[in-house]
Amino acid sequence: MNTNQICKAVMVLSLTIGGAAWAEPEITDSDRIAQYREMISDGNPAEFDEMRGEELWKTPGGPNKVSLEKCDLGKGKGVVKGAYAEMPRYFKDTKKVQDLESRLLTCMTTLQGIPEEQITAKPFASDKKESDISSLASYVAGQSKGMKMKVSTKHPKVKEAYEIGKRIFNYRAGPYDFACSTCHATSGVRIRMQDLPNMRSSKKDAQAAYTSWPAYRVSQGLTRSFQWRLNDCFRQQRFPEPKFASEATIALTTYLAVSANGAEYAGPGLKR
Ligand code: HEC
Repeated sequence: MNTNQICKAVMVLSLTIGGAAWAEPEITDSDRIAQYREMISDGNPAEFDEMRGEELWKTPGGPNKVSLEKCDLGKGKGVVKGAYAEMPRYFKDTKKVQDLESRLLTCMTTLQGIPEEQITAKPFASDKKESDISSLASYVAGQSKGMKMKVSTKHPKVKEAYEIGKRIFNYRAGPYDFACSTCHATSGVRIRMQDLPNMRSSKKDAQAAYTSWPAYRVSQGLTRSFQWRLNDCFRQQRFPEPKFASEATIALTTYLAVSANGAEYAGPGLKR
């Protein structure tokens, strides 16, 4: 067994026995991460990604050689301040509910003329290459820091996305019959050393989880977007990898964002 397989085996085991086998060490990993966050709180490396995103937003690019400063994120052309705190939302021009990343995709394709497949082929940063759409997401999200999450479900399409997202969250399938809720609907559980937020019934957990993404992952040395976070959890669930910015991912994001309403957006965050 390699380390990865061992981790997986431990994870499955810990799910089966409900964490009872974990003797609580005096200082938990969560404590250490909290300490670490405290230590570097005036300088989260995610800020570099935000800066990269800002540069990309303002610099003419793509075949059309235009910047994204005319991109409408829901609050008018070019308005980034507070936009993320109200997303996902319904957009009349595309007739779709869009999260931040799918909306950036729209702007990059329609304004800048970049082929969609070029962006969606590698939408996430890797240690070999940065991802423009991911850095842009960090920048825009950062412009909602300190603002209250206020995702409206007034529009019937948003309400529908919310309901679909909720169903996906609780839908069990795959080789282990897991749903998101298998891991994220009980308080005080952990996999390996990670606390699992109870996003179904703890408002506080749902808010803390959602408002801390995008986030710099210390273990990966990369800033990760929310679509990435969902992708990685679909993987943990042993589901097929979802299509980037697909309706299912946007529905799930809508469900989770609405569950975070009322909390101050605190990202881009910092994770182990
Ligand atoms: C097999 C268990 C498992 C399943 C199933 C699972 N997750 Fe996760 N999830 C985790 C773990 C473990 C973490 C923490 C990961 C880390 O720190 O690396 C996590 C973290 C998250 C986070 C970030 C929480 C935070 O505070 O940073 C979100 C959001 C999330 N999951 C959403 C989902 C969604 C949506 C689904 C269903 C598509 C899902 N998860 C399915 C195990 C799971």
